Amino acid sequence: MTLARLSALAYILSVCAATAATLQSSPYAPVEVSCDTSIQLVRKADGLSQNETEWLGKRDNHTKEALKTFLEGATSSYSNNSLIARLFSDDSNVPRVAVACSGGGYRAMLSGAGMLAAMDDRTEGANEHGLGGLLQATTYLAGLSGGSWLVGSLAYNNWTSVQEIIDHTSEATSIWNITASLASLGGINSSLTNETWSTIMSDVDSKQQAGYVVTITDYWGRALSYGFFPNAADGGVASQWSSLRDNDIFRDGEMPFPISVADFRSPNTATTYSNSTIFEFNPFEMGSWDESLHAFTDLKYLGTNVFNGVPVTKGRCVTGFDNVGFVIGTSSSLFSPMMSPAIGILLNEGPLATIFTKAMGNDSNDVANYSPNPFRGIDLGSSGLEIFSSDDYLFLADGGEDGETIPLAPLLQKDREVDVIFAFDNSADTTHGWPNGSALVNTYKRQFTPQGRGMPFPHIPSPEEFVQLHLNERPVFFGCDANSLSDLEHVPPLVIYVPNAHYSFNSNQSTFKLAYDERERLGLIRNGFEAMTRRNLTEDVSFPGCVACAIMRRQQERLDEPLPEECSKCFANYCWDNIASNVTGNGWSNSSYFLSSTSGSTITLAPTSSTGLLSSSSASFTRTTSIHQNAARRSEQTTYNIRPLIVMVCLLIVVSCNV
Ligand SMILES: *[C@@H]1O[C@H](CO)[C@@H](O)[C@H](O)[C@H]1NC(C)=O
Ligand SMILES: *[C@@H]1O[C@H](CO)[C@@H](O)[C@H](O)[C@H]1NC(C)=O
Ligand SMILES: *[C@@H]1O[C@H](CO)[C@@H](O)[C@H](O)[C@H]1NC(C)=O
Ligand SMILES: *[C@@H]1O[C@H](CO)[C@@H](O)[C@H](O)[C@H]1NC(C)=O
Ligand SMILES: *[C@@H]1O[C@H](CO)[C@@H](O)[C@H](O)[C@H]1NC(C)=O
Ligand SMILES: *[C@@H]1O[C@H](CO)[C@@H](O)[C@H](O)[C@H]1NC(C)=O
Ligand SMILES: *[C@@H]1O[C@H](CO)[C@@H](O)[C@H](O)[C@H]1NC(C)=O
Ligand SMILES: *[C@@H]1O[C@H](CO)[C@@H](O)[C@H](O)[C@H]1NC(C)=O
Ligand SMILES: *[C@@H]1O[C@H](CO)[C@@H](O)[C@H](O)[C@H]1NC(C)=O
Ligand SMILES: *[C@@H]1O[C@H](CO)[C@@H](O)[C@H](O)[C@H]1NC(C)=O
Ligand SMILES: *[C@@H]1O[C@H](CO)[C@@H](O)[C@H](O)[C@H]1NC(C)=O
Ligand SMILES: *[C@@H]1O[C@H](CO)[C@@H](O)[C@H](O)[C@H]1NC(C)=O
Repeated sequence: MTLARLSALAYILSVCAATAATLQSSPYAPVEVSCDTSIQLVRKADGLSQNETEWLGKRDNHTKEALKTFLEGATSSYSNNSLIARLFSDDSNVPRVAVACSGGGYRAMLSGAGMLAAMDDRTEGANEHGLGGLLQATTYLAGLSGGSWLVGSLAYNNWTSVQEIIDHTSEATSIWNITASLASLGGINSSLTNETWSTIMSDVDSKQQAGYVVTITDYWGRALSYGFFPNAADGGVASQWSSLRDNDIFRDGEMPFPISVADFRSPNTATTYSNSTIFEFNPFEMGSWDESLHAFTDLKYLGTNVFNGVPVTKGRCVTGFDNVGFVIGTSSSLFSPMMSPAIGILLNEGPLATIFTKAMGNDSNDVANYSPNPFRGIDLGSSGLEIFSSDDYLFLADGGEDGETIPLAPLLQKDREVDVIFAFDNSADTTHGWPNGSALVNTYKRQFTPQGRGMPFPHIPSPEEFVQLHLNERPVFFGCDANSLSDLEHVPPLVIYVPNAHYSFNSNQSTFKLAYDERERLGLIRNGFEAMTRRNLTEDVSFPGCVACAIMRRQQERLDEPLPEECSKCFANYCWDNIASNVTGNGWSNSSYFLSSTSGSTITLAPTSSTGLLSSSSASFTRTTSIHQNAARRSEQTTYNIRPLIVMVCLLIVVSCNV
C-alpha cells in the first residue's frame, strides 16, 4: 500500500463523509411516470416475447446476407460447397449464430474484445487473416461480468467497434481508458477524482432519497461506467438498458441482441450450478427461463411497485431503474468474500482488515437489490422458488457465481433456435490464471438438474482431461455429431470453444486487476484476436473453412445433406471426441462426465436461507411492503446502513490495485 493509495483512500472517505448532506436530484434516481391502467408487466417464460420475435425478423434479414458471404469466402477452395446454396434457398435452413463472452474482470473484457474483433468485418486484418464478417452474422451476443462490460460498452456506445476504440485510444475521452484505477478516476487530477466520486455519491444518494434501497452495486456500476461511457454525461448516468429500443441501429436489426447475465443470490449465501436461478437482461425484458421463476418482466418499468405484474397504484409506473451501469454492475457483483476468496483474503488479512471489519460488521450487503421485487405476487407454479413471489426484494449478483462463467443459458433456449455458439472463455481457473473448461462442465452438468431442464448442452470432458489434452490452448468444437447427442433432451447447438491462451501477451492477468495502461490493453486485445484466429491463421490456414463447417453442421444434419469432404478433416482436428480418440484410442471413455450423464444430482430449492438471513443478520435492513410507504424512514435507515458499503467500495477499489 503506497502513500498515494492511502491518500486516494482518504480522499474517497472524505467525499463519502461529505456528500450525505448535499443531495440533489440525479438522472440516476428512478422517476414515476404514468402508464396504461391495464398494463401487465410480467409474463410467463413460455417462448420468446412478441418484441423479440419481431426484432428477429429484422435481424435475420441482415445476418442471412452476412453469413452467406462469410461461408462462401471461407469455403471458396472447397471441391463442392453447394451445401451453402441449399441452406440459403430457404430461410428456415439458415444457421443461427450466437456469441457468449465469459467473465473475468477487465481481462475478460479486453481479451474478449480481441476475440470479437476477429469476427468483425470492421477490424483491420479480420477479413484477411481472421473471421471477419461473422459478427455481422451473429444474432445473439451474451455477456457476463467482465464479458458484460464488453457487450455493454459496444452496445451502448451506438454499436461502436473494437477497432474504433483502438483507433481513439490515445484521445482524452477514449472508451476503456482504465489506466487509472477506480480509486483515482481522475488520474493525476485529484480534484477531478474528488469531483467524480462526489457525483457518484450524490447519484446514488438521489436514488436512495427517491425511496429505493441501494447497495454496493450502485456505486460499483456508476464508477465502472466512467471507463465505458466517457462520451456520455457523467459516465452514462442517464442511460438505460431498455433505451436500446429507441436506437436506430438496434431497432433496424443492424446489431446483435445484447444479453447480460446475473445470478439470483441472497446476501451472504452461495449458489451453485445445480441451484442457481440465472437471470438475463435483454433490451426488452429481464427475468429467468429457469423453472424456479420462469417469468420475465418489462425491464423498462423495473422499480415499479407491483403485485402479480400489475402496478399497485394503477396507471403509475417507474422508469429509470435499469441504468446501464447498474445492469452491468449487477452482472459483475462479485463481492462476497465467501465467493471470491481473493477479495475475502485481502479484506480479512490485509492491512485494512481492521477498518473493514469495523465498517462492515457482519451486515454484509454484498449483492444488487432489485426492489420492489418485480415478480412479487406472481403465480410460480409447482416448481417455483417461493421467495421470488413472496419477498419484497430481489437480490442479484455476479452471473458467474454458480461456476458457469460463460453466459450460455440464454443461448440454449430452444425457442431461440441457435445452431452454433462461440464460447469465449477468459476465466481464470488454473493456478496460472488460464481456463480449464470448468465453465462448460458446470453448464453441462446443470442440464441434469431440475434447474437446467430444457437447456441441453453437448458432452464435455472433465477439467483434468481438458488440461491433459490441451483443449484450453486453442479452439475446440463440442457436439459435432447430433447422433451422439440423442441421450440429451433435444439436440443442443454446436459449441465453438475459444479459450484465452498465450500468443503475444501474458493474457493471464488477475481478475482483480483494476487498472490497465494502454500497452496492456492493446496487448490483451491483440492476444485475443490471435487466440480466436489460430494466430492469424498461421497455425492453420484452413481454420475459417472449419468454422464454416461447424456453422453449417446442424442444418446439414437436419436436412441430411452431404457435408463438403474438407469438413471431415476439420472435424478430425477440431472436434473434441476426435481429438480425444487420437490420444486415448477411445473417444468418449476418458470422460467422466459423458458417462455420468444420467446421474445428475437432484436438488431442493430451499426458500428459507434468504428470508432468515435478512431478518437475523441485518437489523437495520427494514422490510416494508410498499416502497412508497414510510419512504422517509427507510431512507434514513438505509443511509445508516449504506455507510459501511461506501467504505467497502472504497477499500475494495484501493486494495484491488495491489493485486
Ligand atoms: C428484408 O429485406 C427485404 C429486402 O431487402 C425487404 O423487402 C423486407 O421487407 C425485409 N424484411 C424485414 C422483416 O425487414
Ligand atoms: C455437389 O454436391 C451436391 C450434393 O450436395 C451434388 O448434388 C452435386 O452434384 C455436386 N456437384 C459436383 C460438381 O460434384
Ligand atoms: C494478427 O492480426 C492482428 C489484427 O490484424 C494484428 O494486430 C496482430 O499484430 C497480428 N498478429 C500477428 C502475430 O501477426
Ligand atoms: C450511431 O451510428 C449511426 C450509424 O453508424 C449514425 O448514423 C448515428 O448518427 C450514430 N448516432 C449517434 C448518436 O452517434
Ligand atoms: C486516461 O485516463 C487517465 C486517468 O484518468 C488520464 O490521465 C489520461 O490522460 C487518459 N489517457 C488518455 C489517452 O486520455
Ligand atoms: C476533495 O474533497 C474533499 C471533501 O469534499 C475536500 O475537503 C478536499 O479539499 C478536496 N480535494 C481536492 C483536491 O479538491
Ligand atoms: C482537473 O479537473 C478539474 C475538475 O474537472 C478541472 O476544472 C481542471 O481543469 C483539471 N485540471 C487539469 C490540470 O486538467
Ligand atoms: C414491446 O413493443 C411494444 C411496441 O413497440 C412496446 O409498446 C412495448 O413496451 C414493448 N414491450 C417490451 C417488454 O419491450
Ligand atoms: C455479528 O456481530 C455481532 C456483534 O459483533 C455478534 O454478536 C454476532 O455473533 C455476529 N453474527 C455473526 C453471524 O457473525
Ligand atoms: C479447474 O478450475 C476450477 C475453478 O474454476 C478449479 O476448482 C479446479 O481445481 C480446476 N481443475 C483443474 C484440473 O485445473
Ligand atoms: C487425429 O488423427 C488423424 C488421423 O491420424 C489425423 O489426421 C489428425 O490430424 C489427428 N488430429 C489431432 C487433433 O491430432
Ligand atoms: C444453493 O446451494 C448452496 C451450497 O450448497 C447453498 O449454500 C445455498 O443456500 C443454496 N441456494 C439456494 C437458493 O437454495
